[in-house]
Amino acid sequence: MNIRQLLDDRITAALHTLGAPDTVTAIVKPSARPEFGDYQANGVMAAAKQLKTNPRELATRLLETLDLSDLADKLEVAGPGFINIHLKNTWLSEVLGGGRMQYAPTEDGRGVLHTPSSQTIVVDYSGPNLAKEMHVGHLRSTIIGDAVARVLEFQGHTVIRQNHVGDWGTQFGMLIAHMVSIAGQNGGVSSVEPQLADLETFYREAKRRFDAEPAFADAARNYVVKLQAGDAECHVLWQQFIDISLHHCEEVYERLGVSLTRADVMPESAYNADLPNIVSDLQEQGLLVEDQGAQCAFLDEFKNKDGSITPIIVQKTGGGYLYATTDLAALRYRSGVLNIDRALYFTDARQALHFQQVFLLARKAGFVREGVSLEHMPFGNMLGEDGKPFKTRTGGTVKLVDLLVEAEERAFTLVTDKNPELADAERHEIARTVGIGAVKYADLSKNRNSDYIFNWETMLSFEGNTAPYLQYAYARIKSIFRRAGVDAEVISSSISLHEVAERALAMKLLQFTEATDSVAKEGLPNHLCTYLYELAGNFMSFYEACPILKEGVAEEVRASRLHLANLTAQTLQTGLGLLGIGVLERM
Ligand code: ARG
Repeated sequence: MNIRQLLDDRITAALHTLGAPDTVTAIVKPSARPEFGDYQANGVMAAAKQLKTNPRELATRLLETLDLSDLADKLEVAGPGFINIHLKNTWLSEVLGGGRMQYAPTEDGRGVLHTPSSQTIVVDYSGPNLAKEMHVGHLRSTIIGDAVARVLEFQGHTVIRQNHVGDWGTQFGMLIAHMVSIAGQNGGVSSVEPQLADLETFYREAKRRFDAEPAFADAARNYVVKLQAGDAECHVLWQQFIDISLHHCEEVYERLGVSLTRADVMPESAYNADLPNIVSDLQEQGLLVEDQGAQCAFLDEFKNKDGSITPIIVQKTGGGYLYATTDLAALRYRSGVLNIDRALYFTDARQALHFQQVFLLARKAGFVREGVSLEHMPFGNMLGEDGKPFKTRTGGTVKLVDLLVEAEERAFTLVTDKNPELADAERHEIARTVGIGAVKYADLSKNRNSDYIFNWETMLSFEGNTAPYLQYAYARIKSIFRRAGVDAEVISSSISLHEVAERALAMKLLQFTEATDSVAKEGLPNHLCTYLYELAGNFMSFYEACPILKEGVAEEVRASRLHLANLTAQTLQTGLGLLGIGVLERM
């Protein structure tokens, strides 16, 4: 249940009864201060303007028509015409205690929640270039996209993950040439495999030879032509390379706890056969002109200040296709074959113009059904302490796998300091969950539109808005249950809200859906992070103010508080699970 939405719907309906036009809504928000109630409706002022009447008077009339007596015990007009809504304690405890939050964590922490209007949504994320190994530049797309995909699934949507990997293009000629030359020297293709264990070095060596040896460069160009012409031998080598490279990616996904599998890979090469059709279809519709031998679309929407237009090139001089051509084909497939309602693309902000152009051209060409929502979800850079793009000490690109290994090592040291008595295996297990969780959470908790500075100390801290803090809050609740000797699963006692801290915690618990709805709508996982951080804070204050296990606490009070504690643990587990972050029973 989304209380904010519920209030908005009901107050909006009441405003319409009073004659407000359809465009007017209640604009319900959580109140900024407790004395203003739990929620505030701010739409009356706009409605009054439309109706040419006094806002305070309209607000008063609204309160006469509006019946919220089932859930609120006080409604009041404040200031120029705000409506303050105070929700009933009995209603809050009934909704909470009766399981009407409508979700339950499943084993993997994902849970399910049913939304009435389920959509089919493509989430396009990760999409590394397979010529090289995944580096830190792929982190953001991979984890932000994954979190949003999980949230959408949690809401009951049909999510189609699309890992649009770069497996095509001229670099592959160079890589094949290098494979062939190694195989020739050492007898057979199988001798190449060990060298592909380190793709980065392999790529660098191929590139070095391409630049230094004219004969090698010729061979490389020749392989590109053969590969594109469908030469069988070339294809086998290419496939071998791609398989190994994808396997590298899967190791990273596994370590990161990212839900992508081989089945989600829909590579650039899958659209090859359709690219000539894309160009000819655009041509038939008169959307292309030839410019210096290239096929281009000049759309007025992309006019620059000087009057020139940034073209969308779909075919190069000499016939080669481009990134944009493939994305047009992918859009047509997603709309026509996958029959989507919505597509979300997670790439860095530098691709903003690319997506604007591709989306618009696809719409003009009728490649996308009307009503399909196309959304680029851009993100900024991950920066080093110096505020410059994150690099190794020597200025090289950081392999993603190395970063993750370091995260686990650092977390292991921390855990060992904290809990030296735990068995080695358990400390490793905790270090994995905490280390990876910290890296992911540090990223997810920032608004993706901005750059952020990567800092090991802050992200691994047990204080502040971090994964370790939330994981610790969860483990702490679990330890309460162990000490109480109560099985959290069987708690069903009614909830009573007498103390301020009890009520604040209950209110926060009930706002979980508001957080997930906002992530789903805007593709901003930081909204969920902020929510979880506040929830953990509410729990800590509650735990301080409202003893649970202390002697003298009445039985039904203890039961009610245990229930609240358990709902908090469940919500933390579900919420972190949606971010792709694990919890620990003890740490
Ligand atoms: N391979 C691309 C890159 O590394 C990302 C792919 C994003 N998805 C897309 N449909 N263009 O930048």
